[in-house]
Amino acid sequence: MEKIIVKKSPALVGSVRVSGAKNAALPILAASILGTEDIFLEDVPELKDVEIIIEVLESLGCKIEKLGKNNLKINSKNLNNTETDYQLMNKMRASFLVMGPLLARMGETSTSFPGGCNIGSRPIDLHLKGFEALGAKIDMNEDVIVASCDELVGANIYLDFPSVGATENIIMAATTAKGETIIDNAAKEPEIVDLANFLNKMGAKVMGAGTSTIQIKGVEKLRGCSHQIIPDRIEAGTFMVAAAISDGDIEVENVISSHMRPIIAKLIESGAKVIEDDDKIRVIGCKEKKAINIKTLPYPGFPTDMQAQFLALMTQLEGESHAIETVFENRFMHVNELKRMGANIEIDDRDAAVFGASKLHGAEVRATDLRAGAALILAGIVAEGETIISDIYHIDRGYEDIEEKFRSLGANIERINL
Ligand code: UD1
Repeated sequence: MEKIIVKKSPALVGSVRVSGAKNAALPILAASILGTEDIFLEDVPELKDVEIIIEVLESLGCKIEKLGKNNLKINSKNLNNTETDYQLMNKMRASFLVMGPLLARMGETSTSFPGGCNIGSRPIDLHLKGFEALGAKIDMNEDVIVASCDELVGANIYLDFPSVGATENIIMAATTAKGETIIDNAAKEPEIVDLANFLNKMGAKVMGAGTSTIQIKGVEKLRGCSHQIIPDRIEAGTFMVAAAISDGDIEVENVISSHMRPIIAKLIESGAKVIEDDDKIRVIGCKEKKAINIKTLPYPGFPTDMQAQFLALMTQLEGESHAIETVFENRFMHVNELKRMGANIEIDDRDAAVFGASKLHGAEVRATDLRAGAALILAGIVAEGETIISDIYHIDRGYEDIEEKFRSLGANIERINL
């Protein structure tokens, strides 16, 4: 079984290039089903989650060629299957993103309930409500969801919560629906904008992405295109925290500053220095670190995907910090692992109070989910001794070349096979 071992490291220093965004690549790969012509994608990160969505697409009949480490050519002309594999759905929640495009392209899709990180109940009601509003019939039993339609027709859809996945699935389903679809209270994440930009290159008419009202005018058909995936703001944020937690000096390259506002603001509040320059952000940590409070919210609020990494940072801040998790109901599993390393954290419902600064020590810990794994690496960098992280398949789901990147900044980190 593979494990990551992190030993106490010096201040991390140097520059690191951020990979393409996992959460943009996944819906964009799913959207490639919508057309029959060649799609060329650049900056697709080499990750387990991307491998899984590629397997899903191949199982449906798409042809995918790797044209280099991060470049893919996709052709969905011979798409001939509308049933997604149970195993693949179970491995990753985002596999469910093929449902909207399949419905649009084939008029039917059959799938099991999606799996993924164990961070909350993560229902799919908003996706299904959206498909129904567009005219699909949904049949469900305990295991299988079947969606079918003669044709999809544009509709006004209000989302009870600005769900990222539901917004993406509905946009994709609506691209070739008859007439106009309006999604209100849509998610505004940068990955939604990247998906809309990609779809528009394919000939779709998606307007308003990045705001809470998205309008989609249905078109007859979509064509091929080339597209570069936006940088991963969560990976960028993880390295920014690495600089702050280790009193280091890291230049994060290939980053869009406007996507990083809450992270920049909170790092500055904690005492770090942040210098923005075109597509780079330099973070310089400082010895006097002040307690901060964060509250996770849909974009442009503080991202839930950075909560665990900030909890690791909070263990090194002087005083009482708070992290309030409002997006997922069960996203504090890393707290017990951080406590094993000496952190002083108390949870009251959705509020984690962190009393710092703590002298962390190495321990055997478990990556309970993807971002929890990143938090444990960050904690391991400043902890005395050796931190042994197991269940690292979670980390591999979302971070490309993670040990290599951390090692290039001076971290004592290695992967072992026990
Ligand atoms: C996406 C991201 C994930 C991130 C999350 C929130 C991808 C592949 N994953 O996940 O990294 O943590 O956004 O920023 O992009 N909900 C419902 N009903 C639904 C759908 C969602 O109640 O039909 C709830 C969920 O239970 C959760 C909240 O909405 O509490 C947010 O989920 P959502 O925005 O849908 O997240 P994902 O798209 O799954």
